[in-house]
Amino acid sequence: MEILYPVGDAATGARIDRAGYERLYAEAARDPEGYWRDEARRTLEWITPFTQVKDTSFDAADFRISWFADGELNVAANCLDRHLATRGDQVAIIWEGDEPGETRRVTYRELHAEVCRFANVLKANGVRKGDRVTLYLPMIVEAAVAMLACTRIGAIHSIVFGGFSPDSLANRIQDCDSRLVITADEGCRGGKRIPLKANVDKALAHCPGVERVLVVRRTGADIAMVEGRDVWWHAAVEGVDADCPAEPMNAEDPLFILYTSGSTGKPKGVLHTTGGYLLWSAATFRDVFDYREGEVFWCTADVGWVTGHSYVVYGPLANGATTVMFDGVPNYPDHGRFWETIDRLGVNIFYTAPTAIRALMREGDGWVAKSSRRSLRLLGSVGEPINPEAWDWYHRVVGERRCPIVDTWWQTETGGILIAPLPGATDLKPGSATKPLPGVRPQLVDAEGAVLEGATEGNLVIADSWPGQMRTVWNDHERFFQTYFSTYPGKYFTGDGCRRDADGYYWITGRVDDVINVSGHRMGTAEVESALVAHPKVAEAAVVGMPHEVKGQGIYAYVTLNAGEAPSDELRAELRSWVRSEIGPIASPDALQFAPGLPKTRSGKIMRRILRKIAEGDVSNLGDTSTLADPGVVEQLVAGRV
Ligand code: PRX
Repeated sequence: MEILYPVGDAATGARIDRAGYERLYAEAARDPEGYWRDEARRTLEWITPFTQVKDTSFDAADFRISWFADGELNVAANCLDRHLATRGDQVAIIWEGDEPGETRRVTYRELHAEVCRFANVLKANGVRKGDRVTLYLPMIVEAAVAMLACTRIGAIHSIVFGGFSPDSLANRIQDCDSRLVITADEGCRGGKRIPLKANVDKALAHCPGVERVLVVRRTGADIAMVEGRDVWWHAAVEGVDADCPAEPMNAEDPLFILYTSGSTGKPKGVLHTTGGYLLWSAATFRDVFDYREGEVFWCTADVGWVTGHSYVVYGPLANGATTVMFDGVPNYPDHGRFWETIDRLGVNIFYTAPTAIRALMREGDGWVAKSSRRSLRLLGSVGEPINPEAWDWYHRVVGERRCPIVDTWWQTETGGILIAPLPGATDLKPGSATKPLPGVRPQLVDAEGAVLEGATEGNLVIADSWPGQMRTVWNDHERFFQTYFSTYPGKYFTGDGCRRDADGYYWITGRVDDVINVSGHRMGTAEVESALVAHPKVAEAAVVGMPHEVKGQGIYAYVTLNAGEAPSDELRAELRSWVRSEIGPIASPDALQFAPGLPKTRSGKIMRRILRKIAEGDVSNLGDTSTLADPGVVEQLVAGRV
């Protein structure tokens, strides 16, 4: 039976209550121009006020997405300068290292000075407005400083998650043509070291365009520095002026690129722009977390993912909040790390992923019970559907039934949260991201694109633009249109399946394309397949998702070897580590089955539906296999399941 948790004490003092939500939603639907004009004016500080608001069309004939087009602003000025007069001495970032208690607090005034100084370093190294800068860093304060310094001078940052391989890093550097890379000697995660600088060195063997590498000293490891190319961060900032004017940027100027996996081809460079993105991350942070002055907010994501961009850095800082940057993992030094840290730092709002909740839930309630968690007011979830069991544990054990859970649905492409409860306004149902935020128009459509009404299930599309939406795929505007706007003409297609219940609540059911959501991280099946076939012994590979108790989805790979090669456990292990080194640990297959042949139609198309069913262990009903070129393949696959 479906349980409903009515808005309780969360309504007290909430910025938006039940009636408020209804009113705002109706207002934004009736007059988007007026609604966003007011929101953009009151949420951000503009250098040149905009006179245009919304200029968007998802139709092929006049496709365009532009918001506040003639306005000018600067992101760093919005995140730092405007807070100095009122909260210069308030802590902006609490950094918590891999070791508990390894903490650093940086005030708004200090952060402002560091950002200005580093912005001058970037300039001195030839970085100009519009140039791309690649960041390959741990979760250290310097990551936020580098991001904000880029925005201060109008450079476009591209952050590559530290868990990606040298090859993946090289591809991303080449795709956007960065000439400057910022990294650290090493990262620390769960007591282990990550050789970031060594990875950069390997990547740069394929990136002749990179002229400068700035290196943060994090662990003090002995690393190689290339004469004339590599410079220590601490040496570069020494004696540099902390005065650096914020560059007036057009609202539609690029802000950052973030690569994300799709169903086909190489990862895409998702491009976000200055005004719309900042408005979206700032307003959603304020409203969904109902942020209150002085509170400590902790989003556990890495800045290498979009969640870290929007809710570790930009959303919180634009609101003058205190944000926690965590450079560790949930199970180090033990399974009580999150809860102990919440007590020690006085965290009021905690935002994490279902995979972490499930992993900790398995370790029992004892680890949680050791902490008081008295400071907590609100909990959040992001990255994948949260199963009701995990939701219940998070609510009952972690939040002691006091704290509402905001289950936030969004994507790298959307810039920030689109569907989520507002704590003071929305009754909760475990497992549902509940309702769209004001200004967001979700629809469910069938395979032909017909809009489905009422309680139903279908493909999730968004019918109209919102300011935070991505503007293009870097260097490939055609791919942008094809990927998101051609499947259902006139609408943005999310790639997700979704159910809507009789109360109008949305329940995301997962990806409907060839993307796997592993521990809340997106992995394209095509990417893993091409890594596998790059191995000299592999003839062909097909990759699908499979249910995984902790990760949500795991990666299941079917591999056909070249003639003369024999399957073995050693080769299986070798292929898994091959994928780790080609892409990164997150892409390593959880299961790998050697398959003499793959199920193909007579035209040679792999029938993934069948592979998915076998991977799920659901072999009783494989559906129609009569169109297969060789139906015998299926029996072999079922027999060889791992
Ligand atoms: O399938 C949805 C799932 O994660 C996808 C977006 O992945 P990414 O761009 O990496 O961004 C993750 C962080 C925003 C979506 O297409 N997803 C994200 N949040 C939820 C979710 N699925 C269900 N419920 C959520 N709250």
